[in-house]
Amino acid sequence: MPVKPVAFNQTVLRDGHQSLAATRMTTAQMLPVAPLLDEMGFHGLETWGGATIDACLRFLHENPFDRLRALKKAAPKTPQIMLLRGQNIVQYTSFPDDVVEAFVRANAAAGQDVFRIFDALNDTRNLRTAIKTVLACGKHARGEICYTTSPVHTTAAFVKMGIELEAMGCQSIGIKDMAGIMKPQVARELVTALKQRVGLPLILHTHDTAGLGASTYLAAVDAGVDVIETSITPFANGTSQPDTLRMLALLDGHPRCPDYDVEKLKELANYFKGVYAELSQFTSPANERVDADTLAYQVPGGMLSNFRNQLKEQNMADQFDAVVAEIPHVRKALGYIPLVTPTSQIVGSQSMLNIKFGRWKNISQPAIDIVLGKYGKTPGPIDEELLARILKQTGKEPMTDRPADILEPRMPKLREELKAKGLPTDDEACVLHAMFPNEFAALAQPAASAATKPPPAAPVVQPAAPVTPPTAMPPGPATRLRLTIDGRAHDISVEELT
Ligand code: CO
Repeated sequence: MPVKPVAFNQTVLRDGHQSLAATRMTTAQMLPVAPLLDEMGFHGLETWGGATIDACLRFLHENPFDRLRALKKAAPKTPQIMLLRGQNIVQYTSFPDDVVEAFVRANAAAGQDVFRIFDALNDTRNLRTAIKTVLACGKHARGEICYTTSPVHTTAAFVKMGIELEAMGCQSIGIKDMAGIMKPQVARELVTALKQRVGLPLILHTHDTAGLGASTYLAAVDAGVDVIETSITPFANGTSQPDTLRMLALLDGHPRCPDYDVEKLKELANYFKGVYAELSQFTSPANERVDADTLAYQVPGGMLSNFRNQLKEQNMADQFDAVVAEIPHVRKALGYIPLVTPTSQIVGSQSMLNIKFGRWKNISQPAIDIVLGKYGKTPGPIDEELLARILKQTGKEPMTDRPADILEPRMPKLREELKAKGLPTDDEACVLHAMFPNEFAALAQPAASAATKPPPAAPVVQPAAPVTPPTAMPPGPATRLRLTIDGRAHDISVEELT
């Protein structure tokens, strides 16, 4: 029986520039090559979701749905993929079910084909509404397993999650190695185990941050993975996905080597070289090179480079090693949560606070919310001492229900708010308004907000949005800190716990 070639998804239009150019590629820079990308026969094109919606609104002043429609028109043959943060949609906190449903419906109507759906805690309850709605829209639900290492993240636990995702109706399973820390032998073991127990196509997504990406893909191909995800240079390698041409060379002579047109790939790389140069103010050599620190600290590379900048801003540059060394402690105390948006931000900022003020002397509101179960069930137990202190301080019980269960439907209110402002009230407008109210208003009413709109070459640091909605907390001495992660500033408020 002939072996099936491995297929490639192409990430250059989403993760490629999100990882290496602060998500700043514009629709105008994408459209000229969209037809050529469509000709390549890729299994899918990742074009939307993750930070692209935020970046479209905040920095590029584009309507993200217009981008999707334009790309769909320019590349109609290849399924288009988006990255969806489950109940967080593309934000940092949980949204009510009706908003998640409206988002998926609007997105499906605009042409999205495949939804990669993940939850930062791997709590499948946070994926349920999104998966159900994707299926109801007749689209493809790809359930993602966030990969991380910890005593509770065993192959058996990942396989259990894969079986659960299959039972929930997912049509394929993705393994999401956002930090690029998966080693080839682990990929081999995990892919083999998942292929044995789950009857769905399996996709591996990794990053080349620590220089492992291409070897990890090769091991996964040996073990029978159906699809791997690659990008195109210069938006490839480093903190991005391994380059497509490089991966083809590595697979040359392999029984599962796919047939993609090398000349056309060179043409694409040549085109993207120009785009990369245009985005030079957002690119950095630190993201382009292999960073073995990622392996030592087991944290995403992007998080490390952002940390350096952030600690500089806080006059804590000399404490970089101490702060990074604190990350494993914070992660363990918070139940070994994977480090991916938004938990990477939460663990990062708490590590900084622990070093600045002493361990758990100041606790950020999002970290308190993790402890109280407001993000979902953590993979491991919360540190007992920390839990006891937070319960005493807040007078609350940890939540065991699905976080979105306590959220009231919001769509009618969103529609009213938009109507009152004289803005459009369709689902697209509602979901953008729910997640990015100021940016959406600026986009929908450009004349009225021109005064607050930054010029096109805006600095990387922008006015911050709060990480979580205000939560009732006993008054106490509060400190405000500004934290910049993924090129985005977060103002966080910390309170002293006694
Ligand atoms: Co990624």
